[in-house]
Amino acid sequence: MHKKERIVILAGDGIGPEVMAQGIKLLNKLEEYIEIGFDLDEHLVGGAALKAYGVPLKPETLESCKQASAVLLGAVGSPEFDDNPPDLRPERALLDLRAGLGCFCNLRPIHLYKALIDSSTLKREVIADIDLLVVRELTGGLYFGKPAGFETANGERTAVNTMTYSEAEIQRIARKAFEFARLRRRKVTSVDKANVLAVSQLWRSVVEDVAKEFPDVQLEHMLVDNCAMQLIRNPRQFDVILTENMFGDILSDEASMLPGSIGLLPSASLGDGTPIYEPVHGSAPDIAGKGLANPIALLNSIAMMFRYTFSRPLVALAIEEAISTILLRGYHTADMKLEGGKQVGSEEIGDLIISEIIQEYSRPFMTA
Ligand code: IPM
Ligand code: MN
Repeated sequence: MHKKERIVILAGDGIGPEVMAQGIKLLNKLEEYIEIGFDLDEHLVGGAALKAYGVPLKPETLESCKQASAVLLGAVGSPEFDDNPPDLRPERALLDLRAGLGCFCNLRPIHLYKALIDSSTLKREVIADIDLLVVRELTGGLYFGKPAGFETANGERTAVNTMTYSEAEIQRIARKAFEFARLRRRKVTSVDKANVLAVSQLWRSVVEDVAKEFPDVQLEHMLVDNCAMQLIRNPRQFDVILTENMFGDILSDEASMLPGSIGLLPSASLGDGTPIYEPVHGSAPDIAGKGLANPIALLNSIAMMFRYTFSRPLVALAIEEAISTILLRGYHTADMKLEGGKQVGSEEIGDLIISEIIQEYSRPFMTA
């Protein structure tokens, strides 16, 4: 009897369900080849939950996530709810999940796919060999600070958000960044705005203290505006980028253009409770329902799940290798430019990748 792992599936909005369909297909197929069974527990979140239940995340859904081994999320967000107050927007579901599951550490790895070297808007020599990891703090900063909201004073509308971080919050995310740097090229670039923000001054000083626990890792500080520039000037200088919540949101979208499409990039959100795996991209309402969406970010997120939650690095590698192989054969989705390649839809590229993985698993063992 195989071990059963319960994964909460939150497809969400827009292209979420389309990319998730490929992920579910992969998990169902993999079950036949590896000694883990999956119990996939699907729930509505975001705009889909707002429509069905009037709230972006039902308490019962969060409860199921707490009891699960992992959460796999598609995307949330829909223009239909643009005028809703922040608490009744689809995005609120994500924030409540991250906070509710204690997922303070968001990992966004970015590397180059050989097949796509000419797909980026940046020159080949700028992006060759890039391999960086954004470690984004995910449960603090402007997204969560209080006070937050709208007020009317003297007949004028005002709005406030608060950026706040405690020492302990900075310490725990900094430690993660240094630990991951140890598994890589041992360099941490901590990104802040210490020339203006008190929060950033505290950030810098706490990161420096934590760095003393990791004398084998090089630490540098960089202002966020400079980092935005350096990312497209010379991205090869980066190994681990450690930063707070909103800077990390913005810089990771920028960095996603190095390999050529945000449709490729996965993320893992780790912390005290159930981890969340989700693509970096959003719900892309403009292409939703057309079968065009790129499921690679979601499939790469499943690879991260095998690496970090199920401790099966070889399964992760098999998924990642299959993705590289299919791209090298010229198959790509509409978000990627691949001269002379063949553009296919979500379903087709999903099938190609999955059959490549399965072929790997079906190969007979070599004998000496
Ligand atoms: C992301 C997204 C979210 C964020 C939104 C949808 C709340 O942009 O995961 O990067 O800003 O964290
Ligand atoms: Mn984002």
